[in-house]
Amino acid sequence: MTTSRRGLLRASVAAAAVGTGGITAAGIVASGNNPAHQNQMPSPLRGSAPLQYAQIAALDLISRSHRGDSLHAAHHVIKTMDGGKIAAWLALGESALPASTLRPQHLRQMPAFPGDLLDPAQSHGDLLLQITGTSPKAVQSAIAQALRELPQWRIRWRIDGMRPENRTEDGRGLARNPFHFTEGYGNPATPSGVEERATVTAAQGEPPWAVGGSYQVIRIIRLATDFWDRDTIHEQERIIGRRRNGRWLDGTPSTEQPVFAADPHGRTTPLDAHVRRAAPDRRNPPPLVRRGYNYDHGNGDTGLIFSCFQRDLEKGFEAVQRRLQGEAMAKYALTVGGGYFFVPPPGNAWIDAVGAK
Ligand code: HEM
Repeated sequence: MTTSRRGLLRASVAAAAVGTGGITAAGIVASGNNPAHQNQMPSPLRGSAPLQYAQIAALDLISRSHRGDSLHAAHHVIKTMDGGKIAAWLALGESALPASTLRPQHLRQMPAFPGDLLDPAQSHGDLLLQITGTSPKAVQSAIAQALRELPQWRIRWRIDGMRPENRTEDGRGLARNPFHFTEGYGNPATPSGVEERATVTAAQGEPPWAVGGSYQVIRIIRLATDFWDRDTIHEQERIIGRRRNGRWLDGTPSTEQPVFAADPHGRTTPLDAHVRRAAPDRRNPPPLVRRGYNYDHGNGDTGLIFSCFQRDLEKGFEAVQRRLQGEAMAKYALTVGGGYFFVPPPGNAWIDAVGAK
């Protein structure tokens, strides 16, 4: 795609009305839950694959003087919903935390990265309410019920997501993204691998209430699927750096590691390919866990709700995002929203520290 194509994408995004799309695609559901780890991990990190359908609602406090009560109410609603066919969780924006609280040290408002066109109507928020489930209907009715019970909050933005071909293979949750590529191979295959990359430890110098929680980054990335689909599959695979089915361009199977050092000039896997930029050192994978969804608002407005979890925002998302600058795929993608949030650890201790009334 040329620069003018990107200009077109930017122009159409700027003109597009912000809305939420319906969820239509069906697929295979696999939760892959591991009971031993169930209660120690924040809800979004349990199991190997996220549930197939999601709604994310970013909420703002109506009254800052009722911050404590409002947080308690949200915690209560989510706690009673989480489990069984629904996985539900909260994530705190930096603006939800009172000045007197010890804050997760990296939590701040997500900055605009080069090339971003952040729409305030799809970005940031005091709190994210995230409800995932095995059917669109279950998600919609759970979110409607949660919002009915939370009159202290107003909706800032919301978005529906889905994971076509959602499944677990060799311990990893996989799905098909809007560019027709399988996503999820770069994630850890075991619960302990997920924990190691994604959950905050006491040794990090984080506030005690935050230990066991996770930094969550959301990026609403609009994808120019019409331009993408005009390229050959061969070109697309060179931009991503893997085949659509996950196999590496040098023939290495999807779950094994290629040797990029044997291809120093990028003849087989171009140096600006997505995976080569994202994870150049195959022995030290980026310390983050991706669990995103596709969105489709209709009228060609489709893309990724990129969502990743990490114990350290700088070493996780921010380091990768910096390396991706100038990647070949940049011309087909425009980030229009999202934010930085913190998913509290399981249990009730955090709410007493953060939700002082
Ligand atoms: C523009 C939208 C994006 C698309 C279409 C996309 C697509 C993909 C695909 C197809 C893969 C290979 C399969 C896999 O390992 O899951 C992948 C890997 C990866 N992506 Fe993305 N991605 C996007 C944005 C991002 C962003 C914003 C980040 C983080 C800043 C990111 C980080 C990664 C990482 C860390 C890997 C794993 C690399 C590895 O270990 O080999 N991606 N992505």
